[in-house]
Amino acid sequence: MTAPQLSMTETHALLSVRDLSVTFATKRGPVRAVDSLSFDMHRGRTLGIVGESGSGKSVTSMAVLGLHTGAEITGSISLDGQELVGLPERELNRLRGRRMAMIFQDPLSSLHPYYTVGEQIAEHHRVHFGSRRSVARRRAVEMLAEVGIPEPERRAGEYPHQFSGGMRQRVMIAMALVCEPELLIADEPTTALDVTVQAQILELIARLQEERGLAVVLITHDLGVVARVAHDVLVMYGGRAVEQAPVDALFAHPAHPYTRGLLDSLPRLDDADDAPLRAIPGSPPSLLAPAPGCAFAPRCARAAAASPSERLRCETERPLLSGPAGLPQVLDSARTGGTPLAACHFPGFPASEGVAS
Ligand SMILES: Nc1ncnc2c1ncn2[C@@H]1O[C@H](COP(=O)(O)OP(=O)(O)O)[C@@H](O)[C@H]1O
Ligand code: SF4
Ligand SMILES: [Mg+2]
Repeated sequence: MTAPQLSMTETHALLSVRDLSVTFATKRGPVRAVDSLSFDMHRGRTLGIVGESGSGKSVTSMAVLGLHTGAEITGSISLDGQELVGLPERELNRLRGRRMAMIFQDPLSSLHPYYTVGEQIAEHHRVHFGSRRSVARRRAVEMLAEVGIPEPERRAGEYPHQFSGGMRQRVMIAMALVCEPELLIADEPTTALDVTVQAQILELIARLQEERGLAVVLITHDLGVVARVAHDVLVMYGGRAVEQAPVDALFAHPAHPYTRGLLDSLPRLDDADDAPLRAIPGSPPSLLAPAPGCAFAPRCARAAAASPSERLRCETERPLLSGPAGLPQVLDSARTGGTPLAACHFPGFPASEGVAS
């Protein structure tokens, strides 16, 4: 199989990921958690990465931040033209926090229990800018105000356990943004929060993204979250991108059967309160012994309804990410209304709808 020809739009991308694969050596054999992933991120845009648990979303974000020790990483991750794969730890450390930052699902695991939140945010500023204590402290309080924490001066002197889950997530966002990074990676930032607080945090991320012209990668298993804040969407399945599209196109015409399944499993407004949640039948693919054809084939309704020869193609030939014209390319998050891409032999693009759906 030859590598796909990639479009050459990456010159202005803040983050360019090309053919990224991440493989872990395990007792049972190599686990390829991310396989040949390519995408572009531009300033001022939000890319939502969605997929079921285990699809490689977190492994991708950790790879971008250079946080995998011991994994084999191939391909390229370039930040504003600088190659990150293979960069010495000392230089990665300088970039982390300063030019790219991350917020996680569980802020308590990233906040130190024995220091006040003000001290922790200020310390971050001091380490990266070498700023004086008083300056760093003032920036910490300003950041707490910016993320909507009431009485920021007083609350800067409190400890993480004195904050509610939502307020703690705001603290994490303040810490992530105090050094004014250009790229923010948010991995399931609202999963542990109740619906109202979740909406507030998403609004906050969207506001900061717009005000600061940030590039945001928002990782979630929840397509509803993506619909609210993302400009572009990358759908992952078994470590691979199976669909990439601007958000409106994805919701209007999901081209990949897996994306369609995810959308069908979203609760609808007209559902009865006690309606059971719809899930895509079947289980995620094995990363230890990947099947030769399409990884989604055992669960795919489209393949099940196809002719024997079409089904054979699904089971034996791995589909590449391609647009409606069949040309492999990369999702460039600067494009608006750009061409959606899907890794499926029988994609449901608007023009080909009805061919097999
Ligand atoms: N350190 C590791 N060693 C072996 N396998 C790993 C490691 N980290 C992640 N994986 C595997 O990689 C796959 C993708 O994980 P992850 O990116 O965390 O999924 P998610 O999409 O839920 O964030 C999972 O099957 C997971 O078991
Ligand atoms: S390639 Fe075949 S099995 Fe895979 S998603 Fe498309 S129709 Fe389904
Ligand atoms: Mg994850």
